[in-house]
Amino acid sequence: MARRGRACVVVLGDLGRSPRMQYHALSLARQMSFQVDIVAYGGSVPHEALLKHPSIKIHTMVQPKFLQILPRIFYPITLLLKAIIQFTMLLWYLCVKIPAPDVFLVQNPPSVPTLVSVKWASSLRRAAFVVDWHNFGYTLLALSLGRNNLLVSLYRWFEKRYGKMATGSLCVTKAMQHELDQNWGVRARVLYDQPPEFFRVASLEEKHSLFCRLKKDLCHPVGVHDIISGELEKQNPHETLFTAKIDDSIFLKPNRPALVVSSTSWTPDENFSILLEAAVMYDRRVAARLKGNDDSVEISEEQQHIYPKLLFVITGKGAEKEKYEEKMRRLNLKHVAFRTMWLAAEDYPLLLGSADLGVCLHTSSSGLDLPMKVVDMFGCGLPVCSVSYSCIHELVKDGKNGLLFSSSSELADQLLMLLKGFPERCDALMALKEGAMETGSSGRWASEWEDNAKPLFAEVVSQITD
Ligand SMILES: *[C@@H]1O[C@H](CO)[C@@H](O)[C@H](O)[C@H]1NC(C)=O
Repeated sequence: MARRGRACVVVLGDLGRSPRMQYHALSLARQMSFQVDIVAYGGSVPHEALLKHPSIKIHTMVQPKFLQILPRIFYPITLLLKAIIQFTMLLWYLCVKIPAPDVFLVQNPPSVPTLVSVKWASSLRRAAFVVDWHNFGYTLLALSLGRNNLLVSLYRWFEKRYGKMATGSLCVTKAMQHELDQNWGVRARVLYDQPPEFFRVASLEEKHSLFCRLKKDLCHPVGVHDIISGELEKQNPHETLFTAKIDDSIFLKPNRPALVVSSTSWTPDENFSILLEAAVMYDRRVAARLKGNDDSVEISEEQQHIYPKLLFVITGKGAEKEKYEEKMRRLNLKHVAFRTMWLAAEDYPLLLGSADLGVCLHTSSSGLDLPMKVVDMFGCGLPVCSVSYSCIHELVKDGKNGLLFSSSSELADQLLMLLKGFPERCDALMALKEGAMETGSSGRWASEWEDNAKPLFAEVVSQITD
């Protein structure tokens, strides 16, 4: 059978919010010269590079949303119905709508019904079938249903049975590779998430134009008055919170707030209360230290700026966003402000590249995956404070490119320690920044893919065509 030079990337989710699968598609097109069909749900706009690439075609499926109106007591039936509809729709796309590929690449999770549809499609179309293990689906389900639920056990059984049938497997950490090998009978290669080329340090011009574009997002939420909104009202058009432009030359304002970014999909496995609590502690402690000087009547400009004002910008969409926004509105802090936003795929790397510190609240449902947002932050030379859990050490080296914390008070301590003397005299932050730059420049997606994924694709494709 002749090689077809085609690959099909399957994502049972919003493609725009699946960066790793987008990068896979780009690499299959660029580094193997494949024609790539992507079968996924719509929602957010994928990266421009994908939309513009002549060999990549995106097939958007319609989501069976109408099931959401069924009452909660029908939950198991709803799940089953949803799985059957998704299964049928996937088969239709994979077996009829797209030309036959040499290889299907599917993201896991979700495992149901994706793995079985792709398995069937790969048999029918005589194609190889590669699973990219981002996590375990059953552990995500266990977050909402509990470990001992029957559905969770069923899900695990299904995930293992069909996961094992793949022609080849990739996964995201050594810890996961070990688990797959020991308990699942799956031999997977590790393909670490690495930042693609558009994650890098932003130039001064890029920062200035980004902050000009973001002005309206920073003013929002309307009606809320905090340290940032007051500042914004006073500004002239050539000025942003962080930068100013005078006679064609741009500079960073010395009294700018420290910009701390975090991104999230607002799911229950990221506890944002930790960040909010830490912000309150930061605010109180800074206030207390300033008050400590009460006798000297006037606080000098110098002392005012020992600790900077903090602006947290939190990007992402998701279910719990409004709940936390409401909490943020009620905090009423004097040295800290919050903004939430959703950025265009092109602006997100610029924001990371313009920030001073990243915060990551990701804890893994399986304890075996790593937060991609931290990978992106390192790509932009941005150090992070990250929640500590089992395999995070594969990415964050405590004290070198970031710090690990386990509680809100630890995070507050780290913020105070790192930001003291900001922006000029914060040596600890600068040292971490260097570490982050080093990590970020040591590996890029294209070379990681070339070394670890390309040989696997070449191998599985040659097996089916022999
Ligand atoms: C989230 O963090 C807060 C603050 O540290 C804590 O009180 C709460 O119990 C945590 N919630 C969960 C679900 O872990």
